Amino acid sequence: MCGIVGYIGKKPAFPFLLSGLKRILYRGYDSFGFGVIGKENKLNCFKRPGKLDEWEQKLLEMNFEGNIGIAHTRWATTGTVTEANSHPHWDCHRNIFLVHNGIIENYKELKEKLEKEGHKFHSECDTEVLAHLIEKFFKGNLETAVRNALKFVRGTYGLAIIARNDPEKIVVARNSSPILIGIGENEYIVASDAAAIVDRTKKVIYLDDGEVAVLTPSRFFITDINQNQIEKNIKEIDWDLEEVQKGDYSHFMIKEIIEEPETIENAVRGRLMIEEGRVKLGGLDGIQEKLRKINRIILVACGTAGYAARVGEYMLEEYVGIPTEVDIASEFRYRKPVVDKNTAAIFVSQSGETADTLAALKEMKEKGILTIGITNVVGSTQSRETDAGVYTRSGPEIAVASTKAFLGQLAILSMLAVYLGRQREMALVMGKRIVSELTKLPELAKETLKSAPEIEKLAKKYKNFKNFWFIGRKYNFPIALEGALKLKEISYLHAEGVAGGELKHGPIALIDENFPTVAICPLDSVYEKMISNIQEIKAREGKVIAVATQGDKDIKKIADDVIYIPKTLEMLTPMLSVIPLHLFAYYIAVLLGHDVDKPRNLAKSCTVE
Ligand code: G6P
Repeated sequence: MCGIVGYIGKKPAFPFLLSGLKRILYRGYDSFGFGVIGKENKLNCFKRPGKLDEWEQKLLEMNFEGNIGIAHTRWATTGTVTEANSHPHWDCHRNIFLVHNGIIENYKELKEKLEKEGHKFHSECDTEVLAHLIEKFFKGNLETAVRNALKFVRGTYGLAIIARNDPEKIVVARNSSPILIGIGENEYIVASDAAAIVDRTKKVIYLDDGEVAVLTPSRFFITDINQNQIEKNIKEIDWDLEEVQKGDYSHFMIKEIIEEPETIENAVRGRLMIEEGRVKLGGLDGIQEKLRKINRIILVACGTAGYAARVGEYMLEEYVGIPTEVDIASEFRYRKPVVDKNTAAIFVSQSGETADTLAALKEMKEKGILTIGITNVVGSTQSRETDAGVYTRSGPEIAVASTKAFLGQLAILSMLAVYLGRQREMALVMGKRIVSELTKLPELAKETLKSAPEIEKLAKKYKNFKNFWFIGRKYNFPIALEGALKLKEISYLHAEGVAGGELKHGPIALIDENFPTVAICPLDSVYEKMISNIQEIKAREGKVIAVATQGDKDIKKIADDVIYIPKTLEMLTPMLSVIPLHLFAYYIAVLLGHDVDKPRNLAKSCTVE
C-alpha cells in the first residue's frame, strides 16, 4: 500500500528519495510524488498517476536540488487515481507539504469547516485536509502547528511534513500506520518500510502511536502530542540490502519460492530439541505458565496468513487437544467473539501491519485476552503490541503475493503445536517424531522444488483455461484455498478452493472438460476420500492435476497429470504440497505476461480497512 520516504541531511535528497521509493514500490501503488526544498526555500514538487519507472528518466533529468525532501507512493482509497489526489499535498500558500499513509476518517467535517474559513482545496483526497489544518495553526514553527492540528484529527496516519517557512526540518507523526526513522551519519531518513533505508543505515527508531518526531540535519527529538519528551531506543535491522534485491532471478516471486526450503530452515533453526521432543520458542518464555492454562485458541489473520492459520487449526486441535477456531480479521473485529480469561488469541501476519489484523488485536487486548503474534517483520506494530510472539525469520518478502512467508508461518504453527502439546498430553515419542521430521523438512522442500521444470510444462498446458478448482481435505484443504488464491492473485484466472467433500454439494455442477481441478491428495488419512473425489470429477470429463506422494503409482491411472512431493508426516505435508501450487501460479502468470510481483489492484500490506 502507500509508501513514505523522507530525507534530511547534508547530501542531495532527491537521488535518495528516488532509490528509496523504488525499493518500496512492491507494496503496490497507483501514483507517486516528490517534494524537495531547494534554493531560497523553493519547493520542487512532481507527482503523477501511473508507474514510477515510466517517469524515471524525466525525474533524473529534473534532479531537484536540495537536502530536505519527502516522497510517496499512493494506493488510492479516498479519491480516484489522479495527479491532484496523489501526494505530496499542500496548503493554500504552498508552505506546508506533506505525505500521508492511512485514512483521515473525519476529513469531510474538517474540510467543510476549513472551506468555510476560506481554505481552497484542489483535490478529493482526505490527506489534503491535513495540510490546510496545519496551515491554520502554523505560526512559524512546524512541529507546534502539527501537534495542534493532530488534536482534531480522527483516523490513521503515518506522516512526513515539511514547510518552506520553517525549512530546516521534517516533522513525522504516527497513529496506527507504521513509520520509522533511520539514523545515518549526519542524516536522518524517514520511511514507512525499512527496505527504503537499509542501504544507508541499519539503525532505526520505530515511532509509536501518538508520537511526533522532529528531524533537523543535526539532531532529532520525539514528543507526544502534548509536547512531553519521549526517549526511544535505537533498534538494529538484521537483514541486508541483497535480501531486497532480485539478483539473477526474473521476479521476486520466483526468488522467494526458491527460498521456501531456506525459510523453513530459518524458522526452525535453534528451536528444535530432538532428544526431548520439544521446541524452544524464546518469545513465549514470559508467558509459558499462562499458556499451560489456556483452554481455547482463536487464530486471526488475513489472506495467505489466514490459510496458514487454518492449517494451524488442524495442527492445534489434533496435537494439543485445545478447541481452536480461525477467523479472518476483517470479520472477527466486527463480530462479538465469546472469549474468557483462558482464551489465547494468535495473530498471524507477514507484515505485522495489516490494519484489520491489528484492529482485531486491539479488540482482544481491550478484553484482556492473552495475545500472541506470529510475525515476520521485526519491530512491526503487531510484534510490539502483542503480549508475546514468535518471529518467522523469513527475511524480507517483496512480491505482493505471499509465498515464502506462508512456509515460515506453517513452520512456526507446527512448532507451536509441539510446544503446547508437550505442555499437555503429547507423548515424548510423538514430540520426537514431529521435531525430527521438521529437521528433515528443508531438504524435502528442496527436493519438491526439483519438479519446477515439469510444473512449468503443466503451466503451458493449462494456461488457456479460464477456471480452476483446487480441492483438498483436512490439512490440505487450506492448501487448496491458498493454491487458488495464488492463481487468481497473479494470473487473474478464476480459481476457487473447495474442501474435497464439498464438491458434491454444488461445485461439481461446474465440472466439464473446460474446468480443470488441481487435487491435493498425498498418501494420508484422507487419501481414499480424495481418490473418490477425483473419480467423481473424471466421470464428468473434468481434467485433474494431482499433487501426490512419491511412489503413488495408482494416482497416475486416474489423474491427467501428477506432481509428486516427498513423503512426510501428515501434519507437515502442507509445507511441501503448497510449493508446486506456488510454482504453478507463478509460471501461468509469467506465460500470460502479467506483472507477477505487482499484480493489479493488490497491495503487499493492507494498512487501511
Ligand atoms: C495482502 C497481501 C497478501 C497477504 C495479506 C495479509 O492482501 O496481498 O499476500 O497474505 O495482505 O498480509 P499479512 O502481512 O498480514 O500477512
